[in-house]
Amino acid sequence: MGGFVGAAGAQASPHGRMEPSLLSGTANPRLADAVAAELGVEPAACAVERFPDGEVSVEIQASVRDRDVVIVQPTSPPPDPHLLELLAMADAARRAGARRITAVVPYFAYARSDSRHGRRVPLLARLVADLVETAGVDELVTVDPHTVQLEGFFRIPMHGLTAVPVLAAAVRPLVGAGAVVVSPDAGRIKMASAYAEQLDTRLAVLHKRRLTGTEVEAVGLTGDVRGRNCILIDDMISTGGTLVEAARALGDAGAAPEFIAVATHGLLMDDALEKLAAAGIVRVLVTDSVARRHGPGGAEVQVVPIAPLIADALRGMRARGTAAARG
Ligand code: R5P
Repeated sequence: MGGFVGAAGAQASPHGRMEPSLLSGTANPRLADAVAAELGVEPAACAVERFPDGEVSVEIQASVRDRDVVIVQPTSPPPDPHLLELLAMADAARRAGARRITAVVPYFAYARSDSRHGRRVPLLARLVADLVETAGVDELVTVDPHTVQLEGFFRIPMHGLTAVPVLAAAVRPLVGAGAVVVSPDAGRIKMASAYAEQLDTRLAVLHKRRLTGTEVEAVGLTGDVRGRNCILIDDMISTGGTLVEAARALGDAGAAPEFIAVATHGLLMDDALEKLAAAGIVRVLVTDSVARRHGPGGAEVQVVPIAPLIADALRGMRARGTAAARG
C-alpha cells in the first residue's frame, strides 16, 4: 500500500514519513471518501462553508504541519466556486505548514480554453493553471483532461490519468460483433482509437463544427457505419449537444438506430439525458469524476468508479517521492 496505512494519517509510515492528510472540498465528497477508503485513511476534517454573500470560508480542522496533503476537488459545475474552494484549501494547507500539496482534480474545468479563437479573449486554461500553482499546489492529478496541452500550462508536475481502460472494460459486455467506435470530432480521435483497440472494433470519425456553446454541426464522416451499432466516445458530456448531433449524423449515414455513449466526465447539464435518449442514445457510461446531479429519466446512466485508479496513482507518486527522499 505504498505508505498509506492507518487512520487519519496520525501515524508515521514504516520509513518514518508521516502519512498524508486527505481533504475533500464540496465538489465530490463521495469520490474523496472512496479514494480515502482505497488508501486506507480517514479524510481529515475540513470545514468548507459559504458566507451569506457567497464568499468561501475554509478551515482545516487537523494539523497538517510537515505533512503531505492530498486535496480531492474536481472543478465540476459550478466550476468557479469549486475552483475557489480548491485554491482556498491549498492556501490554507500551505499556510498551515504542509510539506507537499497534491491536488486531485479529476475533472479540470476550463481545459477547453486551451487556445485563443479571437483577438480579445482569455486563455483560461493557462490562467487557472497559474492560480493553482500560486495557491501552493505542488503537483496535480487529473483524469482525461480535455487536451494533453494542459500539461504544458503547468510548471508543477501534472499526472494525467486515463479512465479509458476501466470504461472500456465496463462497456465491453455491451459491444456486439461488427460494432464501430465513433469519435464525435477530430479532437477525440486518439481517445476513440484507444477504445477501438481495446474493444477490437473499427473506428469512424465525425467532423464537427461548433456554432455556439450549445450548438454543434457534424459536417462529415470518415468510416463506414451502415447497419452497424455505434459506440460514441467523448471526454465529457455537458449539454449533450455534441453526441445528439453525432447520433443524428450517424443515423443519416445508415447506422443502427440505438447508440451507446461512453465519456469520462458526465457533467450532464439540465436535460442532457433526455436529449440523448431522444436522439437514440439508450445508455451512457461515465465515471464518478463528477458528482451525480441528474435525476431519473432520459438515457440510462452507468457510473464507473475511478477511486482505484486515483489511489494507485497516489501510491505510485508517494513511493517515488519516498524513494527519492531516501536517495
Ligand atoms: C469538445 O470538444 C468536447 O470534447 C466535448 O465534445 C464537448 O465539450 C461536449 O459538450 P456538449 O455535451 O455540451 O456538446
